[in-house]
Amino acid sequence: MKIAVAGTGYVGLVTGTCLAERGHCVTCVDVDENKIKMMESGKSPIYEDGLEELMQKNHAAGRLSYTTDYQAAYCDADAIFIGVGTPELPDGSADLHFVMGVARQIAESVQKDCLVVVKSTVPIGTNDEVEKLLKECVNGRVNIEVASNPEFLAQGTAVRDTLNASRCVIGTESKNAESVMRAIYEPFGIPIVSVNRRSAEMIKYASNDFLALKISYMNDLANLCELVGADVKAVAQGMSYDERIGRRFLNPGIGYGGSCFPKDTKALRSLAADLGYELKTVSAAIEVNQMQQIRLFTKAEEMGIELEGKKIAILGLAFKAGTDDLREAASLKNVPLLLEKGANLVAYDPVAQDNFIRRFPEGQQGSGSIHYVHSAKEALQDADLCFVYTEWPEFVSLTPSDFIKTMKSPVVFDGRDIYQPEEMKNAGITYIGIGR
Ligand code: UDX
Repeated sequence: MKIAVAGTGYVGLVTGTCLAERGHCVTCVDVDENKIKMMESGKSPIYEDGLEELMQKNHAAGRLSYTTDYQAAYCDADAIFIGVGTPELPDGSADLHFVMGVARQIAESVQKDCLVVVKSTVPIGTNDEVEKLLKECVNGRVNIEVASNPEFLAQGTAVRDTLNASRCVIGTESKNAESVMRAIYEPFGIPIVSVNRRSAEMIKYASNDFLALKISYMNDLANLCELVGADVKAVAQGMSYDERIGRRFLNPGIGYGGSCFPKDTKALRSLAADLGYELKTVSAAIEVNQMQQIRLFTKAEEMGIELEGKKIAILGLAFKAGTDDLREAASLKNVPLLLEKGANLVAYDPVAQDNFIRRFPEGQQGSGSIHYVHSAKEALQDADLCFVYTEWPEFVSLTPSDFIKTMKSPVVFDGRDIYQPEEMKNAGITYIGIGR
């Protein structure tokens, strides 16, 4: 099938590449000329395991191309996927102007019947708005339909998550749109859930917000475990045998970040509030997360640790391992707090470092300073304290003796519970984890 994809961020580019991998003829559209040139030369603009190889393979096979010329891409497409961003507005609601902008471009370009597929995460009712706009603006002879097809990929495993998705949700009331969608996804061999459009839009928020709730619940419990002398990791393990609870997303830590959970929780809460309904569970998840993201810093304060003039190793800047993305990363909240206290930070992240430097340039920052190094062990050298924010394998593999041998005074704040408290303590390290 001939498919165009609008937007080459995580959702658009991964979707386009995977659709090409499954045999469709795909054109990815973006407004950014430099990005298009980069992709044409075989480079991925985002760090995503396995993506670049798949882009090169499908580009070489003639199934995947890139362009800024949206009219050419949309005019004769069988289906056009919208995968542009829906960032958070100051009031927490989703900003739809990119989605609506693409819808307008589609309306002015299409010359044959086509299906518009909304992949971006959008508030309930947006697909109706997109369809209304398209029908108002499109050339009368063309029949255009809209289906919702929310995306569930996680960064770092996006290609795998798309090719072997747990499910493909199709939201449409039209039999024709459903059969086009089924034909597109047939080569993926994944379960297809066909529902109405508003339910599909809701499934996306419901899934993300449920996972965010699960994490906030574990973080809330972790804080209680510290007060009652329980180990939250052991508690999570004990819970996980119950299939109704499941094994995944029970890891406590420094809260959830990234491009979805923080934005989607606030968007659903805001949407509910607009309808006069208070979504109390989701509000609680947001509140817990805000506290949890700076939990290590508050622990250091509660312990009366003097931070001024201290050399502090910062391990991990990305919002999670496997990505260079800094959106809503706990590091962005903690680094300014530590700098304000006059700390001298030595930071390292295997992938997200360059992105972080753009926000916090090397050198003096107010009364503190930040420097960047090229390995975890270099960051730890002569450090008074260490804060671990991201669970990169390089940090997980550090042993107690790595901390003892390199740090001036081994005090380790483990925001991901990746080390064994007993082993660390037995080695003479002051170890502070989450919930144990
Ligand atoms: C998430 C969803 O998983 C995905 O389905 C959706 O399409 C987009 O949002 P992503 O943001 O890439 O994906 O990452 P994910 O692995 O879900 O982690 C989100 C955040 O939660 C990270 O900050 C991660 O560190 C944190 N997390 C995750 C925990 O703190 N504990 C856990 O047990 C799992």
